[in-house]
Amino acid sequence: LSDEIDYAAEIVKLKKEKNAVILAHYYQEPAIQDIADFVGDSLQLSYKAAEVDADLIVFAGVHFMAETAKILNPDKKVVLPDLNAGCSLAEACTAKDLQAFKDKHPDHIVVTYVNTSADVKAISDICCTSSNAKKIVDSIPLDQPIIFAPDKNLGAYINKVTGRNMLLWEGACIVHEAFSIDKLLKTHHAHPKAKIIAHPESEDHILKTAAYIGSTSGLINYAKTDPAQEFIVATEAGILHEMQKKVPDKTLYPAPAVEDNTCACSECPYMKMNTMKKLYLCMKYELPEIHVPEDIQKKALIPIQRMLDISS
Ligand code: 13P
Ligand code: SF4
Repeated sequence: LSDEIDYAAEIVKLKKEKNAVILAHYYQEPAIQDIADFVGDSLQLSYKAAEVDADLIVFAGVHFMAETAKILNPDKKVVLPDLNAGCSLAEACTAKDLQAFKDKHPDHIVVTYVNTSADVKAISDICCTSSNAKKIVDSIPLDQPIIFAPDKNLGAYINKVTGRNMLLWEGACIVHEAFSIDKLLKTHHAHPKAKIIAHPESEDHILKTAAYIGSTSGLINYAKTDPAQEFIVATEAGILHEMQKKVPDKTLYPAPAVEDNTCACSECPYMKMNTMKKLYLCMKYELPEIHVPEDIQKKALIPIQRMLDISS
């Protein structure tokens, strides 16, 4: 394939030709966010997927997100630019292991973060995302014991803010676990007026430094509405693209990771598997397609729908 191709122009053409919609997460590379019909956080993308009126749903995100879109739209074609775009959280929790854990705690109900496979959702009672996790957990009677999977950091944060004692699965996001507290404090020392804002997938010592903790859309909104002029942002660096658009006059610093990589900040290797070239190819050939077996689709829809009903 020639690199002479103007992928952006071709993608726009394909969108019209195929009545396709491109849904993108804030962690996608800037060019993908700019060409998408809708950019959002996990919850917003789930709502959007539930109401979409297109023949082809192109999910510029990771596998569990595209799978959720397919579960909500079993009769539509859903494609993902790279089928290997997984998630360390989804990988940390298999349905077999979760079932064994459930069997050990039969009186517990299971709240799962959407960052899980369809098989895991199919044996869950209710899903949540980082933006509605507190609301979902608060909707459960206080005397009802809960298993929270798979993000131990989000789970610990929700335990803290709700006063619950949920049993936590041992999973973590490789991106949010990579922030360096020493480097973060040094960055803050260099920019003392900057407010630290963090995603709840981050570890407790990072969250303790934060003036605000929230989902990707929550962080963008906070940067927009808070009067501070500088922010140190502890989440995947892709968010800075949309955030800077919303606050063109404010200064944003990505929270530094333990190991410096090319941008000295944290990038999700799964999210970054998607490229404009792969997006173009997947729209052209309508591949790779997401498939969910019918029995799993029906079971997984129940906890997703419960979440959407409660958080709407
Ligand atoms: P949100 O989109 O809910 O903020 O979650 C971030 C994330 O890590 C998605 O993979
Ligand atoms: Fe998964 Fe973390 Fe990447 Fe989100 S940023 S897709 S939680 S590995």
